Amino acid sequence: MYRTKTCGELRASDVGQTETLAGWVQKNRRMGGMTFVDIRDRYGVTQLVFNQEINAPLCEKANKLGREYVIRVTGVVKERSNKNAHLPTGDIELIVSELTILNAAATPPFTVEDDTDGGDDLRMKYRYLDLRRNVVRSNLELRHKMTIEVRSYLDKQGFIEVETPVLISSTPEGARDFVVPSRMNPGQFYALPQSPQTFKQLLMVSGFDRYFQIVKCFRDEDLRADRQPEFTQIDCEMSFVEQDDVLNVFEGMSKHLFKTIRGIEIAEPFPRITWHEAMKYYGSDKPDIRFGMKLVELDDVLKGRGFPVFDNAGYIGGICVEGAADYTRKQLDVLTDFVKRPQIGAQGLVYARVEADGTVRSSVDKFYSQEVLQQMRATFAAQPGSLMLILSGQDATKTRKQLSELRLEMGNRQGLRNKNTFACLWVTDFPLFEWSEEDQRYYAMHHPFTSPKPEDIHLLDTDPGTVRANAYDMVINGVEVGGGSIRIHDSALQNKMFRLLGFTEEQAQAQFGFLMNAFTYGAPPHGGLAYGLDRWVSLFAGLDSIRDCIAFPKNNSGRDVMIDAPSVIEQSQLDELNLSITHVH
Ligand code: AMO
Repeated sequence: MYRTKTCGELRASDVGQTETLAGWVQKNRRMGGMTFVDIRDRYGVTQLVFNQEINAPLCEKANKLGREYVIRVTGVVKERSNKNAHLPTGDIELIVSELTILNAAATPPFTVEDDTDGGDDLRMKYRYLDLRRNVVRSNLELRHKMTIEVRSYLDKQGFIEVETPVLISSTPEGARDFVVPSRMNPGQFYALPQSPQTFKQLLMVSGFDRYFQIVKCFRDEDLRADRQPEFTQIDCEMSFVEQDDVLNVFEGMSKHLFKTIRGIEIAEPFPRITWHEAMKYYGSDKPDIRFGMKLVELDDVLKGRGFPVFDNAGYIGGICVEGAADYTRKQLDVLTDFVKRPQIGAQGLVYARVEADGTVRSSVDKFYSQEVLQQMRATFAAQPGSLMLILSGQDATKTRKQLSELRLEMGNRQGLRNKNTFACLWVTDFPLFEWSEEDQRYYAMHHPFTSPKPEDIHLLDTDPGTVRANAYDMVINGVEVGGGSIRIHDSALQNKMFRLLGFTEEQAQAQFGFLMNAFTYGAPPHGGLAYGLDRWVSLFAGLDSIRDCIAFPKNNSGRDVMIDAPSVIEQSQLDELNLSITHVH
């Protein structure tokens, strides 16, 4: 038998028992005639004691144990004289009488401790060692717990988990496809699913009524902290539903997850704002509403008063930061540099302070009278002690986006974005289409299967850019944790949608004929949503990147540095697949 207890199990109540433990050597230190070894497994750490005076050969053996050796020990549980309140096993130690080395270990390239000395690249190369660390492992335990709770909640709500295929053809979710060559069909390729979108809709046509799947999705897109090329969705679809039915079920699931995973009671219903409101008041379709600082439009107050930058602007707007009037010149210069960074691209930053007596002092005092500055203050409803930060630009949408970045930065600086505070929000009524200046054509903002709002259908032919969709996103703390829509279930409308998106009849038939045919055989009204599991887990774990809650993630270049993927393949494999590499950039 390898063990009678785990390394996290023994307590004061076990004193006097003989027990056997197995695990990894975390630390090995000598004090006087004693050797203390910390033995670790997934469940915890236990202190082992070897006494030179009682058993010298055993103690010698223990002295030679290196870090990460795999050992088995048997001994008697003893109460510790100096207890460690930070360890669940800190009241006891094991006085070892037998030691077996199950496997020696090479010196690890970094210390396997919570505070490791290993850099990112090294930890990713030796991810299996990194995963021994509590901080990383606990993220995966949280992830496991979440999937159990998701399955339990959805099962109780009548959802059935159905697996859909991974070798499919293109699914339009807005990213590039990863493709897989087919040996048996020379010159042809499968695409990996960007989501199971079309399959879940077909399951509704099949009458499954309520489907879900915890499923890997693949998207070839530029990577960021909240994006991986392969990630996991909690994908759901429901029949005979309107938007509110879907939002209610998933609000319920969110509430359940908050309660069971984080022990937090989240108030329902979640606030809802339209996409237009989100863009107007936050400059973002995923606003962080843990704090206020809404965008305020100032064109009426500040335009036409002789300050050329504002007089020539297409939009002037700002945010009001309470309690920040004491920002120093140096701090304001840093903020100016922040908004001028190429990623943000503002031309400059105007600021105005409300002093204790209500007077406004600004960086543009020479262009504006105190009366106008007071009008501006009133527009912001700014209290004494506030700092007003103002940006302008030709394009309202662009300038609002810049203000949104500034708002988040000020939220961070003012300590308003606490990781243990959660603010949930639905953003609804997204535009159906997005115009691409570059390609001079419309793209579906969500995906081509999303239905227009019935009251906007008449605008499809005349003014498609203004048509609103039955589409919604769930946003928590500024992170888009999920999105979905009510679908088109009518083949004629679906056909029209493809036409508006620039597909010819033949192209639409070739790519999506199966779906439109299915719709002719009795498709129920349906809709659904997909949550990003990785994003949920990282929110709950307070992580900055979703990488930390994925066992074997890719780096920013989409590489797995541990297994060295992607990699070149043998010429024989290329031949078998009828492929030849013509050139590599
Ligand atoms: P969408 O494209 O909005 O919708 O994706 C749903 C959710 O998946 C997560 N997500 C990602 N997470 C990590 N890395 C990525 N690269 C990544 N891309 C997306 C986000 C997002 O909200 N089929 C539709 C859903 C539907 O209409 O039912 C879809 O995939 O949290």
